[in-house]
Amino acid sequence: MSANKESWGSRVGLILAMAGNAVGLGNFLRFPVQAVQNGGGAFIIPYLVCFLVMGIPLLWIEWSMGRFGGKFGHHSTPFIVDTMGKNRMWKYIGVFGIWTNIAVAAYYCYLESWTLSYMMHSVMGSFNGLDQNGVAEFFNHYVNLDTSTTGIPYEPIVFFVICLLMNTFILSQGLAKGVERVAKIGMPLLILFGIFLAYRGFTITAGEQGAINDSSVGLNFLWTPNYDQLWSPSVWLAAAGQIFFTLSVGMGTIHCYASYVRSKDDIALNAMSAGWMNEFVEVVLGGAILIPISIGYLGIDRVTELVQLGGLGLGFKTLPYLFFQWGPVLGAISGVMWFGLLFFAGITSSLAMGTPWIGFLQDEFNWKRKPAAWSFGLIVFLLGMPTVLFFNYGVFDEYDYWAGTVSLVVFALLESILFAWVFGINKGWREITSGSDIKVPNIYKFIIKFITPALLLWVFLGSLFTPKGGDWGAALSGNWVLDNGSIIKKLMNSGLKEQLAAATDPAQIAQLE
Ligand code: PHE
Ligand code: NA
Repeated sequence: MSANKESWGSRVGLILAMAGNAVGLGNFLRFPVQAVQNGGGAFIIPYLVCFLVMGIPLLWIEWSMGRFGGKFGHHSTPFIVDTMGKNRMWKYIGVFGIWTNIAVAAYYCYLESWTLSYMMHSVMGSFNGLDQNGVAEFFNHYVNLDTSTTGIPYEPIVFFVICLLMNTFILSQGLAKGVERVAKIGMPLLILFGIFLAYRGFTITAGEQGAINDSSVGLNFLWTPNYDQLWSPSVWLAAAGQIFFTLSVGMGTIHCYASYVRSKDDIALNAMSAGWMNEFVEVVLGGAILIPISIGYLGIDRVTELVQLGGLGLGFKTLPYLFFQWGPVLGAISGVMWFGLLFFAGITSSLAMGTPWIGFLQDEFNWKRKPAAWSFGLIVFLLGMPTVLFFNYGVFDEYDYWAGTVSLVVFALLESILFAWVFGINKGWREITSGSDIKVPNIYKFIIKFITPALLLWVFLGSLFTPKGGDWGAALSGNWVLDNGSIIKKLMNSGLKEQLAAATDPAQIAQLE
């Protein structure tokens, strides 16, 4: 047990920090692309169902686990789960909740560092006068996709270090003075910038493609349901994956933040405030910027093509070009707003990934906050370097798959079993509702006990055995070939190895771009 007596400065601060934890790069870069790839408007149906029956229950589970562990002076999942289950095994499962954070931070902070550099380049006018290919090439050059395997990307490394120093510095200031303060400044700015850009997204009228110069086309494209895809399990898996990632559940960050909530304070309403704020930012703002603006200018075909090539770079490869179509001044301003918005979204999330590690070292090894914060920055730097140096081998995507997707589902599945079946739903329900400022609907007692774990199990098994191309119809009629994206196939034949093999073949390298 520790002398770690920190707590949140205010309720608003807590909610903004938790919302900052959830609202991240996932809302603006991942969500719109997932929606386009998985049936457009039809995606929103499984997405909302997953939010209601997995997202909300997991928020309540994690907030109450955290506050419960905090009573015993624990602020990291290994020791929080240890207070809830007798079996020693739980403690080791809890280690997930530290490891995953560090592994996700390793690629997430790298992505976050691009936004700093792109802010600078927007101001410097680096994108001014470039055509769309020029801007896309700028990105490929930046992340080292266009060089041979030996080039060292100096500029990204410098920004990666700057970004990690900022994270380390803020973390070393403590919870209320560091994390909470940044969230109080960053979240309102983010929403302001988001509203400005979404307004532009709604009102675009001039486009290059004469036929599709109407903003409603972009929005329509995103929101027109393609019902053919509604019953495809792979769409459901994608929806569940997005819900986990966007709400930051299954990671240990929520437990950690909630462990600093005083034991008599509300969690039920706070959890809903932060969770719904994330959904507003994701569905309303995240859905109104990247895709509609890109389509308004580039046309549906080009955007679909870019999304198929991997959506992560879309915001870096298209928007700077489009912004500068509005003139050099508005271009620079919009660039700073877009990348500034991404930066605030990113840093309030990466701070959340650092906090469990710091809490762990403070509680169990009596470390001081400062050295603990520095050790986080150093580890993330070392683990992150492979994503910087070997970006063109797909290392980044491997991190996202194992740490950012599979681990979250596994951890969420295990913690929901621990909560509802080992700790017990009656005790668990008391934890959720004690001190609550809202009436938690009773139906959720049933959902948390049966539906959430069952669906999590289904999602997990589904991703273990995903059939080729997500075609479950063919698979169930006897022709079961594992998809390259399924966990088992990945384990047997690591995608990394394939990428390494591909990297020696110039034709395939060209495809990777
Ligand atoms: N929720 C964040 C996003 O949407 C990502 C994140 C995951 C942050 C897990 C913390 C923990 O980008
Ligand atoms: Na999010």
